[in-house]
Amino acid sequence: MKKLVALLLTTVMAMTMLTACGAKEETAAPATEDATVSAALADGVLTVGTNAEFPPFEYMGDDGQPDGFDMALVKAIGEKLGVEVKIENMEFASLVTSIGSKIDIAAAGMTVTEERKQTVDFTDTYYEAVQYVILPVDSEIKAAADLEGKTIGVQLGTTGDFIASDIADTTVSQYNKAVDAVNDLINGRVDCVIIDKNPALVFEGKFEGQVVAVDGAQFEFEIENYAMALPKGDTVLAEQINQAIADLKADGTFDELVKTYIEAE
Ligand code: ARG
Repeated sequence: MKKLVALLLTTVMAMTMLTACGAKEETAAPATEDATVSAALADGVLTVGTNAEFPPFEYMGDDGQPDGFDMALVKAIGEKLGVEVKIENMEFASLVTSIGSKIDIAAAGMTVTEERKQTVDFTDTYYEAVQYVILPVDSEIKAAADLEGKTIGVQLGTTGDFIASDIADTTVSQYNKAVDAVNDLINGRVDCVIIDKNPALVFEGKFEGQVVAVDGAQFEFEIENYAMALPKGDTVLAEQINQAIADLKADGTFDELVKTYIEAE
């Protein structure tokens, strides 16, 4: 009898321990609280905002879907992170304020600026740029002082827009689509267009013989750097995307994309 009681006691004790252990395991961090996964990616989808009016970084492909360097880059990042990438095409000026609601991040040849940093965080920079000046072939505009008092076409809310607005006595014509600014340059409605280097070179090729793209260094414009914009404070997402970019640089994918999309232009 004593033996039986002892046996029963050990069994009960063992069972209690088991339940205790089991309960402990259940409270162990569920996937959603995993500190290595950003909340933005918890649904398995990275929603990327862009403005597909900025070749070669983003433009509408023949299939009606946004294509270009940034689009290929975010898709490669999505593959590294094991999430689906969904692209939302919208106005450039709406991107920053849509982060954290409509979109998770923005990939849009976006220049890192102190002003934008008040609202969003940025990934590591991935491309260097400078503003260019697109001019009619017969233009007399040659240096910074020649831009004073001129009518300047820009894409709304871009760094080109900010630079043009800072030049004395200018009339700034803001367009939602950069190509409309270039069309108005050809029509004589604006004296020049200020836009990033690579799109300027694409437009110069597209409207060959009508316009020339001049390096902004000649107008004392400063170097700019592109990065993707992220929700403010999501350091986990920043970490994940920066790691993916670093991996894509290390395995040669990044350089391949530069060759395919930017240097082939
Ligand atoms: N780099 C400039 C800026 O950040 C222009 C970017 C325009 N990008 C676009 N996808 N439309 O303001």
